[in-house]
Amino acid sequence: MSLSITPLSPHTGAEVRGVDLTRGIDEATRARLNRAFVEHSVLVIRDQKFSPPQMLDAVRLFGEVFEQHNSRFALPECPLVHYISNKDFFPDGTRYIPGEGYHTDHSNDVQPPKATVLHAVELPDVGGDTQFVNMHRAYETLPDATKARVEGLKAVHVYQSRHSARKLMGLDPSRRERVPEAVIHPIVRTHPESGRKSLYINPIRIEGIVGMAEPEALSLLDELLAHATQLSHEYRHKWQPGDLTIWDNRCLLHKANGDYDMEQTRYLYRVMLRGTAPV
Ligand code: SIN
Repeated sequence: MSLSITPLSPHTGAEVRGVDLTRGIDEATRARLNRAFVEHSVLVIRDQKFSPPQMLDAVRLFGEVFEQHNSRFALPECPLVHYISNKDFFPDGTRYIPGEGYHTDHSNDVQPPKATVLHAVELPDVGGDTQFVNMHRAYETLPDATKARVEGLKAVHVYQSRHSARKLMGLDPSRRERVPEAVIHPIVRTHPESGRKSLYINPIRIEGIVGMAEPEALSLLDELLAHATQLSHEYRHKWQPGDLTIWDNRCLLHKANGDYDMEQTRYLYRVMLRGTAPV
């Protein structure tokens, strides 16, 4: 098998073929995949088949595993692997679609995960795509006046912002102490590997901007989100069975789509990888 890495859009995403991550991967291949991850921000590694422990082993090629906050989605037999499913319901009976609405994962951590990895186990026939927008491009294409306005600003991130349109499933009580009440991160961050700047916003977690009145902060965040989520910044991933998709939370927002037949099942394994505090 020979490894191929092919861009999926002009700015975000690359498809990887010709590798079976359940087999030993040599150092040159590991280094090539890691470089491609930083360059393309999303890698879609096709035709993989993993048990949960095999997936954990495979993703360690890209870093150390991060313990996800809400243990209610952990697989009992392999708790560092969580699941994404359309078959869970809120206590009031409404269906829970994990990941709806643009966000970056676990930005309410002091050291948010650098990457999230999903492995498609069962998919609906049509729909259920994941959309990604590239926050390097979002930053780089801001008008100069807006760049000057956001430089040095810091935002307060919490588990669930009171401004969030999306409701999250409550934290498992055993985890409340592990998850900080609130953390502060810069709105413009620099990628620790590429040195590129990106916007770091999260409509689900950001409660406010330090030192800014709420109406002004919310209006600025809305403006930044509208700019970031333009189609020209997007790569839309159409899942295929066996995909292992890893994305860079440091420079992307993503969202899931609950636009498919809910009688069908959408089920993926999810692992996150440790990151560093945004600067
Ligand atoms: C997530 O936000 O982690 C889930 C994304 C998806 O299900 O497509």
